[in-house]
Amino acid sequence: MSSKRFERQNIAKLQGYVPGEQPFNAPVIKLNTNESPYPTSPKVQEAIASFAIESLRRYPQPTADRFRSTAASVHQVARENVIATRGGDELLRLLLTTFVDPGACVGMTDPTYSLYPILTAIQDATIASIPLEADWSLPQNFSSVITEHQCQLTFIVNPHAPSGRLIDAETLRVLASEIEGILVIDEAYVDFVSDPAHDLTQLAVNSDNIVLLRTLSKGYGLAGLRVGYGIGPQHLIEPMLHKTRDSYNLDVISQQLAEVALADQAYAKSVWEQVRLSRSDLCRDLQALGLQVEASESNFLLATVPPECPLSAETLYEGLKARHILVRYFSHDRLQDKLRITVGTAQDNHQLLHYLAALIQGEAFSAST
Ligand SMILES: Cc1ncc(COP(=O)(O)O)c(C=O)c1O
Repeated sequence: MSSKRFERQNIAKLQGYVPGEQPFNAPVIKLNTNESPYPTSPKVQEAIASFAIESLRRYPQPTADRFRSTAASVHQVARENVIATRGGDELLRLLLTTFVDPGACVGMTDPTYSLYPILTAIQDATIASIPLEADWSLPQNFSSVITEHQCQLTFIVNPHAPSGRLIDAETLRVLASEIEGILVIDEAYVDFVSDPAHDLTQLAVNSDNIVLLRTLSKGYGLAGLRVGYGIGPQHLIEPMLHKTRDSYNLDVISQQLAEVALADQAYAKSVWEQVRLSRSDLCRDLQALGLQVEASESNFLLATVPPECPLSAETLYEGLKARHILVRYFSHDRLQDKLRITVGTAQDNHQLLHYLAALIQGEAFSAST
């Protein structure tokens, strides 16, 4: 076999994204990828049942106009302010390919969503990675570092992943006004924010340089459907919508089901409220086990395993996995002593706490084998 490399150099050097485990049909309690613990709207089930198979013969409407109109009315913006994408992840890729030159710099915090550096490397751009403070807030010099590196685009995930911390709208408005490039505010988890007044959509559409990322994967229980969308000023949405997007990026089924799910705001809101309630119960119960858990505005909690705990975070992760409970462990610098735990149903959380307590108290395997 020839040893000739066909990949571009930046791709050859790249380590691909490692998603959380997705066991196929195995009976696990899945608290590792921040999916919804509840099914999507029952109206989606009805829409599947009455789906006209005949419509698959044709290509989908290229720009997903009905879905975009529904999103526009939910957020009270114009359809031209919205682009529909194959999950939020496709929007991230489109933002980079549309607005970042190879060799230019992209800003991000450390830690952050681990897909950002990978997509940036695929675009052959460089990274300014700016460490967050100990409490996961933005450092004072954030915008000056972004300016110094002339970042063409900066990613902020808000609420932050993996900490769940929320940056307020005013701080982000000031940040966007201080930097030259585009500010992408990734709101994958914004549905779970407690304050109903937290809403950046008007700020984004009236700005020069802010794009918001939204997804149906978390708050609408549709991670398997792969639908997300971007909201921003028309001059930023338009080139992605009409130049860089794949012609038919969202298939017919995804467009229809996503529209139904998004339109059923009453159902979605009831799910978000339930997740918020379970989040505070789970936070309290994890703290009672001796873990340090920070307040989260997201659908997950970041739990620190203190040094006095007999088992490390990694060992707890492995121990839970052996009990068919998946949580997320990151070997990343500042996360090695932590577990990121998705808020599950009351029953999931109960099981998690049961085995976690048993592991910490050293009786895990005798208790359940
Ligand atoms: C911070 C963040 N942004 C974006 C996404 C993309 O989600 P999706 O492509 O499923 O819409 C995720 C998924 O886990 C995420 O954690």
